[in-house]
Amino acid sequence: MFRGTAPAKIILFGEHAVVYGEPAIAAPVTSLYAEAIATPTDEAFHLIALDLDGKQISLQAEHSLALVSRLTFDTLGILPPNASVQVRSTIPLASGLGSGAAISAAIVRAICALTGCELTTAQTNEIVFEVEKIYHGTPSGIDNTVIVHNQVIYFVRGTPIEPVAVRVPLHLLIADTGHRALTKFAVGDVRTLVEAEPTRYRRVIEQIGDLTKSARAAIANGNLSMLGKLMDENHALLHELTVSSPELDALVAAARHAGALGAKLSGGGRGGNMIALCTSDTLATIQQALADAGAQRIVQTTIDATEGTSR
Ligand code: PMV
Repeated sequence: MFRGTAPAKIILFGEHAVVYGEPAIAAPVTSLYAEAIATPTDEAFHLIALDLDGKQISLQAEHSLALVSRLTFDTLGILPPNASVQVRSTIPLASGLGSGAAISAAIVRAICALTGCELTTAQTNEIVFEVEKIYHGTPSGIDNTVIVHNQVIYFVRGTPIEPVAVRVPLHLLIADTGHRALTKFAVGDVRTLVEAEPTRYRRVIEQIGDLTKSARAAIANGNLSMLGKLMDENHALLHELTVSSPELDALVAAARHAGALGAKLSGGGRGGNMIALCTSDTLATIQQALADAGAQRIVQTTIDATEGTSR
């Protein structure tokens, strides 16, 4: 039995603007993960998506799980051995937490474990990005990058990632509206807005970029009240880009009312998840407020301080 895993992710700042070359900050969420388990069998290589219908997916199928497997074998330059790869994930689908990229990364890693071959992080990232491009339109690459690197990143499309120094731990709640929304439609609608009114919406995108830069400094300095304020501002700008929703706004308002330092939608928006910045003292109250406001699932995550910066 050969296992590959990959975490979920949240975008802390800069979603949508990142598509236009502005920076974004994203973090892995290890309490949610995708897992692929490869077992040698007598049958030709195939995959089984346990969370879907449990049917066999052949290597030739027009399916994202088959595609990532083909790309992995091509990159490794080997023929697929007889094996069955079972795939499962605790990451909700289409909710801004990177389930697709995590599943792809888990499969690449399981195939490497099965075959005893190795790929670099960059090669794995490239394979996962290829699949993201085919199934998600024109992704910036932030999802696959944060998930494959499994660290907090400052990401600018097309440039090498930069690590983010974290001065004090960040206690976050991730709350799911329960509404699924495909990122590619939200990204497409933002594109339509930008093309229709470039001056207005380019300005919004630049403002998101500017506050993401400030957020990086606030994270490095441990200035949590500033960080919360920047999250609130980022949510307002995403609202202006029309990618929030009444459910997301309700959860954001409930979290702030219950004492969150800041709150915003995370990911493509229109549904999916929001995040709230809490302290260890306010976590329980805010969690209850989010549940009362209709959150379908609440996950707590802590972004740990990076070495040499904690105080
Ligand atoms: O996959 P999601 O829903 O977390 O969204 C990714 C972030 C976007 O900026 C909206 C799209 C992208 O490709 O960067």
